[in-house]
Amino acid sequence: MAPLKLIYALKKGITMKVTGLLLSLFLVVGFLQNCGDDSSSREAPTTGQPTVIAMTDFSGAMLFFNRHTDTVSSYTCNSCHSLTDPDPDSMHRPGNPVGNAFNRASFKNGDFTSLIQAVNSCREEWMTAPQWSENDPVWKELESFLQEQAEDQGSQTISYSIKTTTPTIVDGDMDAGREFFNSSCSICHGTNGVNGFAPSIAGSSLTPQQIYTKIRTSGQEDIDIYPGLTGGRMPFYSEERITDTQIMDVITFVKNAEAMETVIVDSKDLSLAGAQTNCGSTSSKIGQTLSFSTLSHRVSGIARIVDDCTIQLEDFNFDGGGVDIRVYTGSISSSSGRFEESSNPSISVNLLNQEFVNGNATVRLPAGVNINDIDALSIWCVPFGISFGHGGFN
Ligand code: HEC
Ligand code: HEC
Repeated sequence: MAPLKLIYALKKGITMKVTGLLLSLFLVVGFLQNCGDDSSSREAPTTGQPTVIAMTDFSGAMLFFNRHTDTVSSYTCNSCHSLTDPDPDSMHRPGNPVGNAFNRASFKNGDFTSLIQAVNSCREEWMTAPQWSENDPVWKELESFLQEQAEDQGSQTISYSIKTTTPTIVDGDMDAGREFFNSSCSICHGTNGVNGFAPSIAGSSLTPQQIYTKIRTSGQEDIDIYPGLTGGRMPFYSEERITDTQIMDVITFVKNAEAMETVIVDSKDLSLAGAQTNCGSTSSKIGQTLSFSTLSHRVSGIARIVDDCTIQLEDFNFDGGGVDIRVYTGSISSSSGRFEESSNPSISVNLLNQEFVNGNATVRLPAGVNINDIDALSIWCVPFGISFGHGGFN
């Protein structure tokens, strides 16, 4: 069979048999659009009975093109890599193509000599997912898919150069910038820089210098194999993937593109539809407060338990940025101080594009959630599984 053609047919949602597994439409519906609900790509809309598909039911192709069930990250391998260059869908991804990776003798500028190490490092560093072992059947699926892709594709290794110096930034070409943006950055940031699963950046208030640095050196700072990174979950673009001239065009576009409107909120009910009302005042937790830490997007303020089903946010600040941002319930790890979400954590609507400046808001608990079970709250970025700020009640 012609694997590539088949895969792109699959991305369009055609039901086919691949390597003995029946894969149907529901496996691909969430492709790159899953900013909201973090289980959307694994649910079968046809049955009316959402079923989470276990990892072993995915074929290797699905592991490349879809989100993995063992992480809350929105990334797929295909967010950052195509199989061939140019990619048949004419997008230009930040990472190099990996269609012949199976044949390569070394990876990541020579730091790794086995494919699984390279893939595990991407899973861990970019997708916040645990490492696979050599014998993991899920890895075996992906490996045989990559092996299939590599047939007749040669074995040349690739390299990447992370540029840590900044040139003088001059105005670029708006149209060229839009074109590059919408064939690359849009994979995550959405067409014209709005409504993607990554933050809306049209009309960004960042300086051209900051945007340049973001594109060239984004990624966690402490990873040896990528020297010079300056933080973030977005992957850097190496010199092999974007030129300085193209970056300047893109910056000109981003700065001038039309921004999304942010609504400043003073007081608001942020409860989910169908939340509890008119509950009693019997809980011993009534009166407890917490103070949100400030981790990102200017989150701060306090939360107060006012009755058996209502939490009040006071002096609350949040810049309205992010993707899908919810008030989450959970607990604070006593060892790491990190927020750990509870099993059914979301208690609010999406706070995206609602800016709070010393504001107040009400969150009434959804049916079935008991105030006595809530130890801590976080302002939580759902697709990336990160806390923008959290605190524990006392
Ligand atoms: C958020 C972006 C991102 C995601 C998601 C991601 N990678 Fe990567 N990957 C990179 C970057 C950046 C590099 C290093 C630069 C390069 O090779 O272009 C890399 C390098 C690699 C390499 C080494 C290439 C070489 O020969 O040096 C392989 C193989 C690879 N990735 C496979 C995968 C697979 C398979 C997945 C899915 C499980 C995946 N990656 C997910 C960003 C990502
Ligand atoms: C593979 C997904 C992906 C691609 C492709 C991507 N980004 Fe990002 N970008 C992100 C994510 C996720 C964030 C938020 C987390 C972070 O700051 O690292 C982000 C953040 C940013 C920010 C900072 C936003 C802020 O307000 O702090 C800028 C600017 C940005 N990206 C620009 C770009 C540009 C320009 C391109 C194309 C050249 C691009 N990105 C391509 C995923 C991506």
